[in-house]
Amino acid sequence: MTAKLIDGKSIAAQVKQTIQQQVVNYTSQGLRPPGLTVVLVGYNSASQVYVRNKRKACEQIGINSKSYDLPADTTQADLLTLLDQLNEDQEIDGILVQLPLPAHIDPETVIERIIPTKDVDGFHPYNVGRLALRMPLLRSCTPKGIMTLLSSINVDLMGLDAVMIGQSNIVGRPMLLELLAARCTVTICHSRTKDLADKVRNADIVVVAIGQAKFVPGDWIKPGAIVIDVGMNRLENGKLVGDVDFETASQQASWITPVPGGVGPMTVASLLENTLISYQSSVVIPK
Ligand code: GUN
Repeated sequence: MTAKLIDGKSIAAQVKQTIQQQVVNYTSQGLRPPGLTVVLVGYNSASQVYVRNKRKACEQIGINSKSYDLPADTTQADLLTLLDQLNEDQEIDGILVQLPLPAHIDPETVIERIIPTKDVDGFHPYNVGRLALRMPLLRSCTPKGIMTLLSSINVDLMGLDAVMIGQSNIVGRPMLLELLAARCTVTICHSRTKDLADKVRNADIVVVAIGQAKFVPGDWIKPGAIVIDVGMNRLENGKLVGDVDFETASQQASWITPVPGGVGPMTVASLLENTLISYQSSVVIPK
């Protein structure tokens, strides 16, 4: 292996420690702690793990975490009523509804019901639009976490050719906007993209978020490229692997994120950062 590892676990730990210090600083002045509400609807087992991690991280760093675990048959109307109450609650800085939602609930309607200043996922069209216009406020957590990883390796991104594989609302699209704001030349690829291998072979930075184990082989990676793997795929033998074939890609890349321990921990770290940003704008500097 020639690539250096981008250690998301330790960078996330540093981010969390900084937030914890700020929270202690505020609460020791008599201010209330920041508050994050995490809403889970139904019993998706991956979502249950993600939500547990988010709630645990809040507890560790002194953010008040309020939980709603709602049954799978919760109506959309009931969920929207809950969001209206949470929007009004002065003690809650961030609202997160874990996706995916059960099929009878429309995710866009739900995301748009959260007041943009409490949209700590950064999914509301208002927040995505602000990022598109280079005036970000609450930035989507996984792309934001990836930008933190990229800044940790001190590589000048300006003018680099970046390829984003995956066009989801959660990762691909906001990641495109982040890379563009960092002045990369960005190509976004998806299932209909022609000559995907050629596009990846030209990339200085490759970000992969498509949810297929080892989809990107090492011989697609340009020597010296930076490889960011957002995938989390469980193999039949129980092993967790990314969307990139780590063994071969790490022979080519200059930097690469491992799975697990790369991008995953950064999503939670960015969520906590966003909660602190929202808190600071409502409590520390009252509106
Ligand atoms: N489902 C997968 N990733 C995420 C995320 O970052 N936030 C929410 N709310 N749901 C998700």
